[in-house]
Amino acid sequence: MKSAKPYIEEHKQRFIDELIELLKIPSISADSAYKDDVIKTASVIKESLEKAGCDTVEICETPGYPIVYGEKIIDKTLPTVLVYGHYDVQPPDPLDLWHSPPFEPVIKKTELHPQGAIFARGSCDDKGQMYMHVKAMEYMANTGQLPCNVKFMIEGEEEVGSESLEWFVTRNQEKLANDVILISDTGMIANDIPSITTGLRGLSYVEVEVTGPNRDLHSGLYGGAVANPINVLTKMVASLHDENNHITIPGFYDDVEILSTEERAKMAEAPFSKEVYCKALDIEDTYGEAGYTTNERNSIRPTLDVNGIWGGYIGEGAKTVIASKAYAKISMRLVPDQDWKKITQLFKDHFESIAPKGVKVEVKPHHGGQAYVTPIDSDGYQAASKAYENTFGKTPIPQRSGGSIPIVALFEKELKSKTILMGFGLDSDAIHSPNEHFGVWNYLKGIETIPQFYSEFTKLKTAK
Ligand code: BES
Ligand code: MN
Ligand code: MN
Repeated sequence: MKSAKPYIEEHKQRFIDELIELLKIPSISADSAYKDDVIKTASVIKESLEKAGCDTVEICETPGYPIVYGEKIIDKTLPTVLVYGHYDVQPPDPLDLWHSPPFEPVIKKTELHPQGAIFARGSCDDKGQMYMHVKAMEYMANTGQLPCNVKFMIEGEEEVGSESLEWFVTRNQEKLANDVILISDTGMIANDIPSITTGLRGLSYVEVEVTGPNRDLHSGLYGGAVANPINVLTKMVASLHDENNHITIPGFYDDVEILSTEERAKMAEAPFSKEVYCKALDIEDTYGEAGYTTNERNSIRPTLDVNGIWGGYIGEGAKTVIASKAYAKISMRLVPDQDWKKITQLFKDHFESIAPKGVKVEVKPHHGGQAYVTPIDSDGYQAASKAYENTFGKTPIPQRSGGSIPIVALFEKELKSKTILMGFGLDSDAIHSPNEHFGVWNYLKGIETIPQFYSEFTKLKTAK
């Protein structure tokens, strides 16, 4: 495969402009007010896949948002790469913390992106990274260099749990048959330290509701005599970690994969500066489970975090009141061998058991998914590693991520193939946060590296 650099140089302004148009559509899957925009995004992607050279592209209806499926089959005896990505985005709030509107993309230079970064919701997660694959396809098809078959499956519900994708995958195993799944929806260590994500954490997401008295009460007349749901909830939540920051739910760690000393030593070789890390977040020190490093705490260890907590009076001034109800949303990040459904049940049983008399507790499970680890001796990983060598001039470092793409474990179960996670974002790109951005250099580097993966993978597979 020839270097895509000259082609990218010639077309880069158009590549950027096309992505900017895509980023203008607010495809927020969590908010039904944006339903038409989510659906419109699917049709824009369909058109872009057709233009990029796919032979057939369909909008596949599901019980939820549609899945865009496209393919180009050049020879059934050659290997097939299945590209997955998502066109939905997270809600942009809090809006007042954005320096420019989330759906009016602008390019600005930053310290880590001296060539400029595109600021918009979805720029990195995942429209920008997904679109690198569309442009890489355009390059290969237009220059007659596509070395194997390719299938695209782009969904619109990743940020809300991929329920319809599960429905779609279990019904279309044959259509989706492939030799490797390729995803760009993760990150890398730094622009001069390429890395390939080898692990994703699982997830169990729950919402809890604590109910005290049957109505809000005057906090003077009743204060001290009845359980205050907010006091109780915060106490219950605080008890979920002990003084070493271990999670106290009985059985929570039973199935946790234990890494060998060698594996942990290998992990510790990845470059990391605690000073830079703390400085970037404006914190004095890191915080977490005793006995583990920062990189271990956020990748190979399970966690429990409150994502939101509310109840009572939060308006202006003061109101003396004991609220009838208090709520929290809690996520648990899981690691290999923990079963998310079992963990959800353990949480529910424990949380209900620690509630004092005087309140009622309800635990409502949301979504979840299994952790995933991809082996580094597979053809897919080896091809990806060579692809980075070709374009970065460096061997990428394998690194487990703390984030989750729950559908990846299901791909392995239903489609029986390995997933390769070639992410080009940086942790500092502020995904899910105000001022999300994606480096222009990263975007173009992704477009340059992806075709190399296709050719290295085809070489490895056809040599066998
Ligand atoms: N792309 C992210 C996941 C990610 C980001 C993994 C960076 C590794 C590095 C994905 O869109 C995401 O946000 N996943 C959710 C889970 C989902 C069920 C809402 C997450 O990790 O919180
Ligand atoms: Mn994503
Ligand atoms: Mn996301």
